[in-house]
Amino acid sequence: MQKTILSGTTATGQLHLGNYLGALKPWVDMSNKMNDAVSLFFVADLHGITVPHNKDKLAAITRESAAAYIASGLDINKVILFAQSSVYQHPYLHWMLGSIAQMGQLKRMTQYKEKSNKVKDGASLNLFSYPVLQAADILMYKSTHVPVGEDQKQHVEFARDVAGGFNHLYGDVFPLPEPVIQAEGARIMSLRDGTSKMSKSAESDMSRINLVDDADMIAQKFRKAKSDSDALPTSDAECAGRPEAKNLMTIYSILSDVPMTEVYNQFGGKMFSELKSSLSDLAVEKMAPITAEMNRLLAHPDEIDKILKNGAERASEIAAPVLEEVKDKMGFISL
Ligand code: AQP
Repeated sequence: MQKTILSGTTATGQLHLGNYLGALKPWVDMSNKMNDAVSLFFVADLHGITVPHNKDKLAAITRESAAAYIASGLDINKVILFAQSSVYQHPYLHWMLGSIAQMGQLKRMTQYKEKSNKVKDGASLNLFSYPVLQAADILMYKSTHVPVGEDQKQHVEFARDVAGGFNHLYGDVFPLPEPVIQAEGARIMSLRDGTSKMSKSAESDMSRINLVDDADMIAQKFRKAKSDSDALPTSDAECAGRPEAKNLMTIYSILSDVPMTEVYNQFGGKMFSELKSSLSDLAVEKMAPITAEMNRLLAHPDEIDKILKNGAERASEIAAPVLEEVKDKMGFISL
């Protein structure tokens, strides 16, 4: 069976270290490792309007996300990179799959429950049906592997259920997609609160390291990151009840590519300030080349648009016959 990798980030703000460690970096590793797979990565700008959005920033966020993908190491000669809104089959398939998606299941989605509580004037229909559009994104390309952070696992499982439901009703069209979640980096936490995930839309910019932050900003954010007054833990067991220590040590472990046991050996028993200082040096060393490449790309927005246009054309070539197959199986007139 053809292997197809697909993933994306929602165009709701600037990408951050959590997106990099939980998504972009694993995407690059996976698309390099699975040479025989078709790889598609997109900027989910249609998902970006499921919560109130700033129309003056949406295009810029989309370009900046695309620049982050390329700067993180995705090779545009090997992968297909596009903006979701440029491939018209996505919302079309969303409608088709909406006839299978179950309201009861959608109501139980953690992201919907969390985000709908935050929207002051009430949640939109689009926020409710976000997982159906995500199922369309995935199934549009008959994707088999969907690399995501822990928080998105539930949505990929929903897409599996929808695919299974469709196949059962109309005959086999979709392979059942697998969520691929790496062990480390699946959930990077906020620098201000180790119990909430690092998030683009969190109010405080100090809660996250943005991929466009410069060295001074990175150092300042780690210096001010929430800590406690005890010495750093020396084992997983000692991390219990100390989410901030665990988070900073985990970030250090992934960025330096050393196991947590070594991080405990190196920093266990020491003060937070020592870890914070080493962590900002390390983060600057690892992130600076990505930020520099993003800035270089963003100086030429036309070039980014050309890459996205080419990607959308290639994506549409795969999507169009799949949509026709779906319409045919569902009994629509074919002209
Ligand atoms: N903190 C995180 N740690 C690890 N992985 C993360 N991801 C997001 N935050 C973290 C992963 O990044 C991919 C893209 O996520 P998304 O853009 O679809 O949105 P999200 O998961 O809702 O992330 P945010 O930053 O919290 O966005 P907003 O503020 O818009 O809700 C996914 O694979 C996700 O798991």
